Amino acid sequence: MIKKCLFPAAGYGTRFLPATKAMPKEMLTLVNKPLIQYGVEEAVAAGITGIAIVTGRGKRAIEDHFDISYELEHQIKGTSKEKALAPIRQIIDTCTFSYTRQIEMKGLGHAILTGETLIGSEPFAVILADDYCVAEPDPVLLQMVKLFEKYQCSVVAIEEVPAEETYKYGVIDGEEEEEGVFRIRQMVEKPDPSEAPSNLAIIGRYILTPDIFDILRDTPPGRNGELQITDALMTQASEGRVLGYRFKGRRFDCGSVEGFVEATNHCYTNYYKK
Ligand code: UTP
Repeated sequence: MIKKCLFPAAGYGTRFLPATKAMPKEMLTLVNKPLIQYGVEEAVAAGITGIAIVTGRGKRAIEDHFDISYELEHQIKGTSKEKALAPIRQIIDTCTFSYTRQIEMKGLGHAILTGETLIGSEPFAVILADDYCVAEPDPVLLQMVKLFEKYQCSVVAIEEVPAEETYKYGVIDGEEEEEGVFRIRQMVEKPDPSEAPSNLAIIGRYILTPDIFDILRDTPPGRNGELQITDALMTQASEGRVLGYRFKGRRFDCGSVEGFVEATNHCYTNYYKK
C-alpha cells in the first residue's frame, strides 16, 4: 500500500518570472485551482492521504492553501460562493499534510532526499505538480499504484516525446515486459537527441522504494551540478528494479509557458465552462 505522496515544490520556477518572484510556481492556477491542488487530488484518487511537501523560501502560500481560512469562510457562509471552497475543504478534512524545507536548491534528487524525514522507510509516490495529467477512468498515479502492487519495485511514468526534445527529460531504454511496461536498462538525464537511447521520457510521476534515500545519499552531483533522481534510479535499474510505465492519458508541461496555456485552455473548456 502506498500511503504517502511527496511533492517537491522548492524550485525557483524561473521560467515564469516575474510571476514566481514572490509566489510559488505550484500555486499558479489553471483557471481557478492551483497546480498543486490538482496534484493532491490525483494523489487522493490513488488512495493516498499522507501529503508530504518539500517547500523553500517564499512558498508559504502552499501551507496557507491547505489550511482553513476562518475569516474567509465566515464571510461567505450561507452564500452561493461557499461551494467554491468545498473541494479544498474536503481535501483538508481527508489528508494529513507535512512540510519540510529544502534550504539549498540542489536539484530534484536532493529535494526528494530532503523529504526522507516526512516519508520514513516505506514505498512512496512523487508528484511534480507542474506536470498536470488528465486520464480516465483511472488518474495516472492510480494506474501506477496498481502496477506497483503487481511488481513491488520503483515505477516511473514515461511518455513518447518528439526526438528533438529529449534534452528536456530523463530518457530511458528498456525491455517491454507487457504492453506499455518497460523493465528499464538505462536512463540518461537530458541527453542530446543524438545520444538519447530512445524517445521515451520520464515525466513527473514516480513510485519509489525507500532504499532510494540511501542511494541518493551515495550519488554524486550529476548534470548541472545537481543531485539527479535519474542517476539514483539508474542504480536500482542496474538491478532490474525500475519499471517505466507508458501511462494512459495526457500530460501538460505546466513548467513551460506554452504547456501552461494549453492546460489552462483544457481546464477552461472541459471543467470550468461545463
Ligand atoms: P523544475 O526544474 O521543473 O523546476 O523542477 P524549477 O527549477 O522550479 O523551474 P525553472 O526551470 O526554474 O522554471 C521540477 C520539480 O522539482 C522541484 C521543482 O519545484 C519542480 O516541482 N525542485 C527542483 C525542487 O523542489 N528542488 C530543486 O532543487 C529543484
